[in-house]
Amino acid sequence: MTESETYVSVTVRVPAKVNVQLSVGPARPDGYHDLANVFLAVGLYDEITVTPADTLRVTCAGPDAAQVPLDRGNLAARAAIALAERHGREPAVHIHIDKDIPVAGGMAGGSADGAGALLACDALWGTGASRDELLALCADLGSDVPFSLIGGAALGTGRGEKLTELAVTGTFHWVFAMAPRGLSTPAVFREFDRLGADADIPDPVASQAVLDALASGDPGALAVAVSNDLQPAALSLFPELADTLAAGRAAGALTALVSGSGPTTAFLAGDADSATVIASVLRASGTSASVRTAEGPVPGATVV
Ligand code: C5P
Repeated sequence: MTESETYVSVTVRVPAKVNVQLSVGPARPDGYHDLANVFLAVGLYDEITVTPADTLRVTCAGPDAAQVPLDRGNLAARAAIALAERHGREPAVHIHIDKDIPVAGGMAGGSADGAGALLACDALWGTGASRDELLALCADLGSDVPFSLIGGAALGTGRGEKLTELAVTGTFHWVFAMAPRGLSTPAVFREFDRLGADADIPDPVASQAVLDALASGDPGALAVAVSNDLQPAALSLFPELADTLAAGRAAGALTALVSGSGPTTAFLAGDADSATVIASVLRASGTSASVRTAEGPVPGATVV
């Protein structure tokens, strides 16, 4: 974005993600875990609108809005503050989040808001930040935030923030079941550490089978290859998720897994029609708060 382009307000649309591989290594001295993390951006979106204001203010609308913190700890607020500090200006902006991604759901909803606010403020202020600068700011905000910016499909290594874009053929059809309460990501990692306390946890590596399945666009192959090392920890903290996973499998899903740190559960369908059927059977099962279909990959944060 150039300095000469100015806007009254800017809206950015940012997708959710599902992890088709989430391999977790041992806890590092800094408390984080090295990951081999294959992200797929899927078509559930938050929209972040920034408008000039006297002081920084965050508002949120949507079914989960009451659970979103509106203070300076909100990732969108932190993104605006970080970009403003870097460019020697005040973060004088009203950030409005239209939230459709579940809160504390394992689908990078908070990360989406951080990436969206960063891109929106860059456009509003004409700061002209390069993609590398935006990615570095995203990585400071959180491990999943860089992926929310780029979207598509990517391998995340390090704590998940070092990204390699991946080739995908076609579109994968998903059903997502939202849980009636959230799970804290740090709590799920702590449970992973507790459950694995006596185990020899190997360093995480990308699964060639996952990469091949994405590249070939074969949902059957992807269904066999997916994995999530955080799933036992999420199930330990939220045992009812096992019922939702079983209901989705019985409804014809090719595979069922916890999305990221959960508690959203993800079901891979063979095609769009099958996704619609699985979604309606899952709704009728009454094992979750709500059920949505979404396709991926989709592009990352985009000014609309
Ligand atoms: O990076 P982010 O702030 O999103 O991470 C939230 C929490 O999740 C961290 O504080 C840490 O407890 C856990 N985490 C981890 N290893 C990672 C990513 C996140 O232990 N690679």
